[in-house]
Amino acid sequence: MISNEKIQEMMSALGELKAAKEQEIEELRVKWLGKKGEITQLFEEFRGVSPEQKKEFGQKLNALKNAAQAKIEEMKAALNDIADAGKASFDLTKPGDRMDLGARHPISITREEIISIFKKFGYSVAEGPEIEDDWHVFGALNFPPEHPARDMQDTFFVHPQGDNPILLRTHTSSVQVRTMESSNLPIRVICPGRVFRNEAISARAHCIFHQVEGLYIDKNVSFADLKQAILLFAREMFGPDTQIRMRPSYFPFTEPSAEVDVSCNICHGKGCNICKGTGWLEILGCGMVDPNVLRASGIDPEIYSGFAFGMGIERIAMLKWQVKDLRHYFENDIRFLKEFETVI
Ligand code: PHE
Repeated sequence: MISNEKIQEMMSALGELKAAKEQEIEELRVKWLGKKGEITQLFEEFRGVSPEQKKEFGQKLNALKNAAQAKIEEMKAALNDIADAGKASFDLTKPGDRMDLGARHPISITREEIISIFKKFGYSVAEGPEIEDDWHVFGALNFPPEHPARDMQDTFFVHPQGDNPILLRTHTSSVQVRTMESSNLPIRVICPGRVFRNEAISARAHCIFHQVEGLYIDKNVSFADLKQAILLFAREMFGPDTQIRMRPSYFPFTEPSAEVDVSCNICHGKGCNICKGTGWLEILGCGMVDPNVLRASGIDPEIYSGFAFGMGIERIAMLKWQVKDLRHYFENDIRFLKEFETVI
């Protein structure tokens, strides 16, 4: 029955209401304000109250209805706030995103390995500028003035004019020249670094690559010493059963000169597509330092002799890991780099 107490009771019940879901709010709305809802019911009963009581009940009933509607709106708004907040903030119960650790680049791994082998043999490491002059890259290394390596086809010139043009070094032999100019004898040094050649980029060639070159100058250094140094290096790098073979070659700065092959570490001489069926893989160029080169750096070739060698780091790394396309080293595709994660 409608009464002051009943209205009062319902008013305080409204204050207590809590609903978390949209469906619950709707249920409450129906329960209170629906066609058969409790408040609607009271309005029905209101019709029958005596005229004296109508004013008092009327006001209170309207207040109750307004309060119920306001409460329902309030609960809906609270629900929307929660939904918005959920969209904007993080779900703290979710596991975190996996963060990939970086790994060293295969060229760095190979460079470090080559350096550490020669350090064991007593070589020290020297570095020099990438932007060089003609003298250190060509002149002091016995390249005649008209040598084709200087041609615009092969060398990137920074400042081509004058007697001693400025250019990007095409090999790290320039660092060997600088070492000969500035160091006391004997010299035993390796020169790792980046070099530049004006070549079309392909699976086998790039206009930027890395080298390690070496130089050893002392009294009585012979070709046999060179051969032994290269053999020891090859066995450290490619395994203890590795064989080497030397083929006569030509470099302006060495005489005699040779190209060195190692026995194919994939087919062990049987012939495969990496060694193109020959059983041998070319790894470096070397030779006895030409007397003209020693003289150009102020070293007396009557007293001293020496050997030099030079290798491309990309090529060594390709052979070691059977990478078929040199361009992989420069693209930094994460799928390629990940293959080296476990190589120390
Ligand atoms: N400088 C040569 C090159 O870049 C390599 C080399 C170094 C050959 C020393 C012989 C001796 O190809």
